[in-house]
Amino acid sequence: MLLPELVTPCLVVDLDALEANITAMAGLAARLGVDLRPHAKTHKCLPIAARQLAGGAVGLTVATVAEAEVFAEVCTDLFIAYPLWVDAARGRRLRELSERVRLGVGVDSVAAVEMLAAHRLPGVDVLVEVDSGQHRTGVGPDGAAEVGLAAARAGLSVRGVFTFPGHAYAPGAAAPAGSEEAVALRAAEAALRRVGLDTSVRSGGSTPSAAHTRGGVVTEMRPGVYVFCDAQQVELGVATTDQVALFAVGTVVSRGSDRVVLDCGSKVLGADRAGWAAGFGLVPDAPGPVVALSEHHATVPWPREPPALGTLVPVIPNHVCAAVNLADELLVLRAGALVDRWPVAARGANT
Ligand SMILES: Cc1ncc(COP(=O)(O)O)c(C=O)c1O
Repeated sequence: MLLPELVTPCLVVDLDALEANITAMAGLAARLGVDLRPHAKTHKCLPIAARQLAGGAVGLTVATVAEAEVFAEVCTDLFIAYPLWVDAARGRRLRELSERVRLGVGVDSVAAVEMLAAHRLPGVDVLVEVDSGQHRTGVGPDGAAEVGLAAARAGLSVRGVFTFPGHAYAPGAAAPAGSEEAVALRAAEAALRRVGLDTSVRSGGSTPSAAHTRGGVVTEMRPGVYVFCDAQQVELGVATTDQVALFAVGTVVSRGSDRVVLDCGSKVLGADRAGWAAGFGLVPDAPGPVVALSEHHATVPWPREPPALGTLVPVIPNHVCAAVNLADELLVLRAGALVDRWPVAARGANT
């Protein structure tokens, strides 16, 4: 699939695989009876967001106000799944956004609720974040009632609860994380109901746990990585390499008798490496993964007949969201031909 004229390092998208992933996740959500709100921080590209929405997504998830500003170009229903700390500047930006699109934000503390409420954002919906086991952000079910009540009393419109079962990112952890997501959302729902709050949105989801989502308890799921998949998903058994829709492409710039070095280092692949990952990225054509990474070098053991200098080699990044955030554009290939170039419109949109 690689074109000899590619200038490396670069990121290429396999459009057939991308479209198949979008269709498959929309189908899964429909079978489970849950709304699909994909996380756009994975791709950061407007044409991909447009395809997800055309494929049945009810809206998009984003991580920051800046991402919301970018995706408001193509989407009228955005959820910022993050415990925002709303200073004066963010308050103004949220107001402008809420005049353009339907907007939801996450909260997980009374202090953040008070900051948000001080900006008088009547149209903004609030979802209380609960911790389902990742122990990153989110409160327990009792805390959810306290935060939700504080929001309602401050005049904010509470719509329900959300969680991110990020502890699904370990071998064998996806199914238990799916159950824990349901347990946490159900408990938080009950806690909010007891104090008379709306719980119509119960949002969860990650890519590894998507297939284990409990429809009924969960009303909406927010996977992001599924659109491309990556080495983590392959190593967790969530995806096959055939489902991977984004590759970094490097050129063999140095070669030993049993290894090659590619020109796609950590500034292209990203440096994320979970403790259980085989290496710094998978190399479908090689016997093993990238074993060492410097900023501009990826070292790949290749004990038998390493490819010649100048050969183009595709690499599957460990964590595709990090790789995409390092690129200005994605080169889009179908049937061996370059059919488009997509700007990474929300690259670096971290504020
Ligand atoms: C709050 C939140 N929701 C959804 C997702 C998407 O999950 P995944 O990256 O597994 O697709 C993430 C990913 O980090 C997240 O932080």
